[in-house]
Amino acid sequence: MLKVHLIAAARPNFMKVAPLYRALCHTDWAAPVIVHTGQHYDANMSDAFFRDLQMPPPAFHLEVGSGSHAEQLGGVMVAYEKVALSERPDWIIVVGDVNSTAACALVGAKLGIPVIHLEAGLRSGDRRMPEEINRLVTDAICDVYWTPSPDADVHLLREGVDAAKIDFVGNIMIDSYEMMREAIAAERTREALGLLDSPYAVVTLHRPSNVDSEAALRPLVNQLLASAAHLKLVFAVHPRTRKRLEDFGLSGMLEAAPGIILTAPLGYLQFMNLVCGAAAVVTDSGGVQEETTYLGIPCLTLRENTERPVTISQGTNRLVPTPALAAHLASVVEGRWPKGTRPVLWDGHAAERCVASLRRRAGLARTTGHRRVALA
Ligand code: UD1
Ligand code: UDP
Repeated sequence: MLKVHLIAAARPNFMKVAPLYRALCHTDWAAPVIVHTGQHYDANMSDAFFRDLQMPPPAFHLEVGSGSHAEQLGGVMVAYEKVALSERPDWIIVVGDVNSTAACALVGAKLGIPVIHLEAGLRSGDRRMPEEINRLVTDAICDVYWTPSPDADVHLLREGVDAAKIDFVGNIMIDSYEMMREAIAAERTREALGLLDSPYAVVTLHRPSNVDSEAALRPLVNQLLASAAHLKLVFAVHPRTRKRLEDFGLSGMLEAAPGIILTAPLGYLQFMNLVCGAAAVVTDSGGVQEETTYLGIPCLTLRENTERPVTISQGTNRLVPTPALAAHLASVVEGRWPKGTRPVLWDGHAAERCVASLRRRAGLARTTGHRRVALA
């Protein structure tokens, strides 16, 4: 049996690991092992997702927690190196673009253990984003690249990655949605929040560029207050954002605002239940841009750029400057928002393609690779 470590660390990782874990469990040649670095640790940022996505508790928990970038990267490397040395996995699979992704890829590469990056090749072109550094570092050193969209293949080829190392597998976040579709529909979050009779938008924000300075966050809060004139807002507040709202004295205004409901971070089923019934989503999340494109829901992304351009070129996502947020939400309410289509291989079967790729690359099967994109 191939021993395969799946690295899970932070909220957006869990919905990428869960379908792959499940698909690997269904083989008779792979033994998937979930390693949690502990980057996210609150019950509603971690445990809830293991429950909602029906994953067993992690086999290893590194309990690294929060800290500066160097502390987190170094802490994960030191802790994971010990596990990798004692366990000697045959393969390490890292997902996404968080600090733990780059840290565990570095550990694997230095120990000579082959590393696969799931969601490889995405680029915002903006090195002020910590995630962009993590993407570049991870993709510089890993052995196999599983990409979600053709633009990712193009970036990797431009950066000199051997085409033979790239498999275009599609978007695994959609697998999680499809896997849990019925459970999501069965949630009663909309009823519980009194949202059955009026249009509402879901809000989620956590990028340092939006929340870490008062100069960025105060105007954003003012736009949310103005937006509530057009439709109700449900703001599921990330712990980073909660802290900043308190630091800058902005929490009270939001709590007191009619038409704005603040909640703690929601579990996956509850959150997706809300998203599915929403008139729009206001976000700076990577994953939420993808989920809204899949579901055809207007997505207003409060960022200057995105590493997920297919959500704009094909989907329902648009980049919105903070001062224009309320006006754009008014457009949504008036029915003026572009429709989208689903990108290719965002179909709920990415995990199967990952498993086929791993099997072939481990020398256990001779299957053909998936479509590769020629360098433009
Ligand atoms: C991290 C990722 C980001 C991802 C996001 C998903 C990096 C560099 N950033 O950002 O790419 O989009 O997760 O949500 O890897 N905190 C808690 N409880 C927790 C986790 C965090 O209170 O369970 C608080 C702590 O004060 C911590 C802060 O949130 O210092 C930030 O956490 P951290 O993991 O460093 O970054 P995120 O903003 O969560
Ligand atoms: N999400 C959730 N509850 C929330 C906010 C987000 O379950 O309160 C889910 C969302 O559906 C998506 C993932 O978390 O699947 C995205 O994670 P996040 O926005 O934290 O990170 P990013 O994708 O920006 O890296």
